[in-house]
Amino acid sequence: MTISALSYVRLEMRDPSEWQRFGEQVLGFAGRPAENCAVRGTLCLAMDAMPFRYLIEPGDADRFAAAGWECADADAYGHVVGALQEAGALVRLGTDVEAGSRGAADLAFGVDPSGNAFELCHGRTSNDASFNSPIDGLRFVTGAMGLGHAVLPAPEFAATDAFYRDVLGFGVSDELTLPPPAEGAPEQRIHFLHADNPRHHSVGLCNFPAPNGVVHLMAEVDSLDNVGACLDRAKAAEAPIVASLGRHLNDGMVSFYMLAPGGIPIEYGYDGRQFDWSVFEPTRSTVGDIWGHEYNFPG
Ligand SMILES: [Fe+2]
Repeated sequence: MTISALSYVRLEMRDPSEWQRFGEQVLGFAGRPAENCAVRGTLCLAMDAMPFRYLIEPGDADRFAAAGWECADADAYGHVVGALQEAGALVRLGTDVEAGSRGAADLAFGVDPSGNAFELCHGRTSNDASFNSPIDGLRFVTGAMGLGHAVLPAPEFAATDAFYRDVLGFGVSDELTLPPPAEGAPEQRIHFLHADNPRHHSVGLCNFPAPNGVVHLMAEVDSLDNVGACLDRAKAAEAPIVASLGRHLNDGMVSFYMLAPGGIPIEYGYDGRQFDWSVFEPTRSTVGDIWGHEYNFPG
């Protein structure tokens, strides 16, 4: 495996200040000034000692802009850049300034067969500042496992699935098939893929589109109480709750889903299982949840 973790995500927002409020007061991220960022008004949201895990840039639309995949070292990075070039998926190499704005040693830009933009980096260094959530006692489960996971629309399903496995080097964790959401619609398929860390999946690929570029992003906290307290804060902030509390079958996560500003769905969870991939057998599921997770996503 060549990708070590989902290191960061970039969102484009018409009003980044809404995300600052929501990120700090509901999610418990720590807002930091963006350093070395070319885009004025860019906001960094930290979940740990990394300079940021969410980069919110001002733009014309509210949308998911890119997933930031990190490689363990320069060798792994070089290998993936070569594979992207061969696959015709490398958009360009980043400049030193762009890499610096991510806190990384090197940066490349790519696009997958469904049109999802992504970035590739290595050598991200953490800040001197230790992480202090604005919410007392809140800690995120991150470190080598990255910020959590991103579930992405992949209408070009077979080609995108093959790309993440064969070019980026992800491993298969679970292939989920769900009944059609409406009569005449195709069955829903989600493939859950892991990077080189114990988290069950760092990326999920869906055979259906998502209007703002992402099906959901997941953040994991260190206790069930911290999930419940966030649910209270989300309700107080009148954020739409788009899935009730529940436990997923494949990664065991107890979570709920809310819409953050710009309609970005966020899964907020605890108790995700961790795996030893050397002895793991990929699974095929037809059920997404053990209990709960009554879904009410728009559209
Ligand atoms: Fe998820």
